[in-house]
Formats: sequence, structure tokens, C-alpha cells
Amino acid sequence: MSKIGIFYASAMGNTEAVALDLQQQFGQEQADVIHVADADKDMISAYDYLIIGGSTWGAGEIQDDMADFFKELDEVNLTNKKVALFGLGDQVAYPFAFADSLGDLYDKMVSKKATVVGGWPIEGYEFKSSKAERNGQFVGLVMDIDNQPEKNNERIKAWVKQLKKEFK
Ligand SMILES: Cc1cc2nc3c(=O)[nH]c(=O)nc-3n(C[C@H](O)[C@H](O)[C@H](O)COP(=O)(O)O)c2cc1C
Repeated sequence: MSKIGIFYASAMGNTEAVALDLQQQFGQEQADVIHVADADKDMISAYDYLIIGGSTWGAGEIQDDMADFFKELDEVNLTNKKVALFGLGDQVAYPFAFADSLGDLYDKMVSKKATVVGGWPIEGYEFKSSKAERNGQFVGLVMDIDNQPEKNNERIKAWVKQLKKEFK
């Protein structure tokens, strides 16, 4: 497998922590971690395999740095890329907009005709509504560090195991 680019946006550091954990699971020789504010179109284009993650703010909004990254993505041809997505949210405080921005990220990838992998089960979470849920599953890994920190490791390990099969 060629090298993976892990791009993340993070307001308080939670998404950054997950991005670094993901890198650790793949191994530093296999994956780079890049803050979206440092990413330009050439850096995105350099990877065949992308992992993109961000958190949800406002009431179901994408975080500001991610909004800027969307403009950068517009300049890149993603048709031959495999992309896995992850999103951070808080299912207790925001049960009606849980990890909504992951759904926006997914829609962006679909509009760019990227191949999205890394779907994740909704079991194990309690929420009322999420734009990240499509056809009964999440469109990527959902992490709730605010309420389920004890599940971080097992979720990350299982998702990376899954991606090692799907990134082919
Ligand atoms: C002001 C505020 C608004 C938030 N809005 C949402 C939301 O609409 N949906 C959600 O699932 N989580 C929401 N969250 C929770 C964050 O997404 C969560 O804490 C996440 O782990 C933050 O990650 P970051 O530090 O990488 O930005 C909100 C948190 C704050 C402080």
C-alpha cells in the first residue's frame, strides 16, 4: 500500500489526538499526519489513500478550518483516490446533530467522485439524528471523546484493521 495522508481539523485537540492515534496504528512509515490549514492541493494530490477527519461545531456545522479545506479540495482531482472519513461529536449534548459534519464531509467526497471506504456501525452510540448516518450506518468512524473515552482504543484499532483491507 502506498503512503496514507491523514488530514485533520481540530478546534480543541480531540480530532488531532485521534489523527495521531490512527497514524500510530498504521505506523509512521505508512501514514503522514497533516493539519488541514497546512495542506495545499499538491499535498492532497500526492496521496492515493486519504483519511480526513474533523469535529462538529455550532449546531451541526463543520469546523472553520475544515470549511477552508473544502475550498482546497475543490482544486484537486479525487476520482482515483480512496478516502476514509472520521468525525468527532458529542452524542449527549448534541443528540439531534450528532457528528453532522461527517455527513457534510461525505457529501463533499461524493460530489468530488472519490471512492469512500471505512463505513462504521451505528451500534454502541445513542443519538436521535445524524447527517453522518446513511442507510443504517455511519459514513466513517465516529468518535465521542467527551462521553466514551474508554472506547477510543478499540474503535481506532478496529477501524484501522478494516481500512488495511479496504485500502487496496
Ligand atoms: C460550542 C460547541 C458546539 C458543538 N456542537 C456540536 C454538534 O453540533 N454536534 C456534535 O456532535 N458535537 C458538537 N460539539 C462537540 C465537539 O464536536 C466535540 O467536543 C469534539 O470532540 C471536539 O473536537 P475538536 O477538539 O477536535 O474540535 C460541540 C462542542 C462545542 C464546545
